[in-house]
Amino acid sequence: MARWPLVLCALGALASPLNQIALSPSRAAAPTVQIGANLPAPPVYDPTVRPLVLWHGLGDSWGSPGMLEFMDMLRETHEGMFVYSIRIKEDLEKDQQAGWFGDLNEQIEQVCEQLLNITELQDGFDAIGFSQGGQFLRAYVQTCNSPPVHNLITFGSQHMGVSDIPMCKPGDIWCLLARSAVKRGVYSGYAQHNLVQLMPVADTKAQYFRDPKQYDLYLSANRFLPIVNSELPPHLPPPFPLTVLANLVLIRFTAEQTVNPPVSSHFGSAPAENATAEIPMREQELYREDWIGLRKLDERGGVVMLMCEGQHMQLKKECWEPIVMRWTGGAAAKVTQSRLQAFWNHPAGPKTVFFWAPMMKWCLVAAGLKDLSRPADKLSVPQNVALAATGIIWVRYSFVIIPVNYSLAAVNLFVGGTGMYQLYRVWDYRRALAKQTKPAVLPAAA
Ligand SMILES: *[C@@H]1O[C@H](CO)[C@@H](O)[C@H](O)[C@H]1NC(C)=O
Ligand SMILES: *[C@@H]1O[C@H](CO)[C@@H](O)[C@H](O)[C@H]1NC(C)=O
Ligand SMILES: *[C@@H]1O[C@H](CO)[C@@H](O)[C@H](O)[C@H]1NC(C)=O
Repeated sequence: MARWPLVLCALGALASPLNQIALSPSRAAAPTVQIGANLPAPPVYDPTVRPLVLWHGLGDSWGSPGMLEFMDMLRETHEGMFVYSIRIKEDLEKDQQAGWFGDLNEQIEQVCEQLLNITELQDGFDAIGFSQGGQFLRAYVQTCNSPPVHNLITFGSQHMGVSDIPMCKPGDIWCLLARSAVKRGVYSGYAQHNLVQLMPVADTKAQYFRDPKQYDLYLSANRFLPIVNSELPPHLPPPFPLTVLANLVLIRFTAEQTVNPPVSSHFGSAPAENATAEIPMREQELYREDWIGLRKLDERGGVVMLMCEGQHMQLKKECWEPIVMRWTGGAAAKVTQSRLQAFWNHPAGPKTVFFWAPMMKWCLVAAGLKDLSRPADKLSVPQNVALAATGIIWVRYSFVIIPVNYSLAAVNLFVGGTGMYQLYRVWDYRRALAKQTKPAVLPAAA
């Protein structure tokens, strides 16, 4: 075990993924937390905007300045969006450590409990995973997915693992020592149980180290990736195949040097005999035999493969913003899935007078039009008094409400007008009747 200290010595060389996000000068200058200033009011979330969950990358923590800054920018992209950053530990330093140490399967289980506990997420959410956070989120989807993920977006993730460690800079003795230690110790039981990240200078994870030259060893010793990818015979499908997603958006970096092979971000791998060649996603056995639902999702048009300019996790706004605009912040499930229900429960919906009053009005208008041709002796006085009265009252009401509702006023003017016209007809008819009957009566009395 003497080699582990060497590995840990190299931790300092680790890049914090989100520190590299390109910030505009004005934003970068603005302090995220203003100490001593009045605390801002708690943000108000718009429940009609689908929430977003992030899982940070290696060497980062859920609340690092880079993550907080990015979360702010996301909230600017979609106003009112609830954004949550997954944490293994509340304490930032311990959370950062959890990226290197710990049992991944336990961490996924913990995240399942954590997300189930957050009320804002209960109708589902979109998810963005940075680097290793991407395949961890995929593990979340495939194992619990409750609350459900709608779109899963992964930036520079290692869906088919990593098969090699990047070369060290010449003369970097710590890197060389750590590299050889990793090469020899990668499948040891200790590493598999306790190290998510084996060699920090690279995204080389004990729990997703997948060397095609030692594929049998990988299958038998790795406790995470072969299970998540259903690579173990008889290739049982995961509890939630990827078809539960609306979209899986895979982003690979053009100048990727950390993920090896870079095509792993697009669900590809390198063949054992040539480390620089690529076996693309659609030629993978996992895809062709559809062990995890990837093929069905792709055939439905749900797998999107994109490239981002730059090195690993050099996330430029030009690249992430259109992706975030398109695949996050859609209408929340509550709104889209039960439009009928929303209509039914609307403050002016069928359960309220606001819906039925105008509806009834048009029925009354139709009835009123029909009655215009009715003989005056067949007209009901109480009915037309009621029509005239409600019509007038509602016309008045239409001008009191804000905003003034002219169409409502028009309908009611019509109803009220019809009622009054009919009342006039009745009055006119009865007056004529009285005139007719009077002379007939008088002679009899004479
Ligand atoms: C869930 O919430 C309850 C109550 O707020 C809290 O006691 C519990 O620790 C939470 N569980 C997790 C996994 O966060
Ligand atoms: C390995 O693959 C790359 C890319 O496909 C190719 O250019 C190269 O010639 C291959 N090398 C060998 C030894 O086959
Ligand atoms: C006016 O009232 C009608 C009927 O209730 C309704 O459909 C319409 O949306 C209202 N218009 C405005 C501007 O409130």
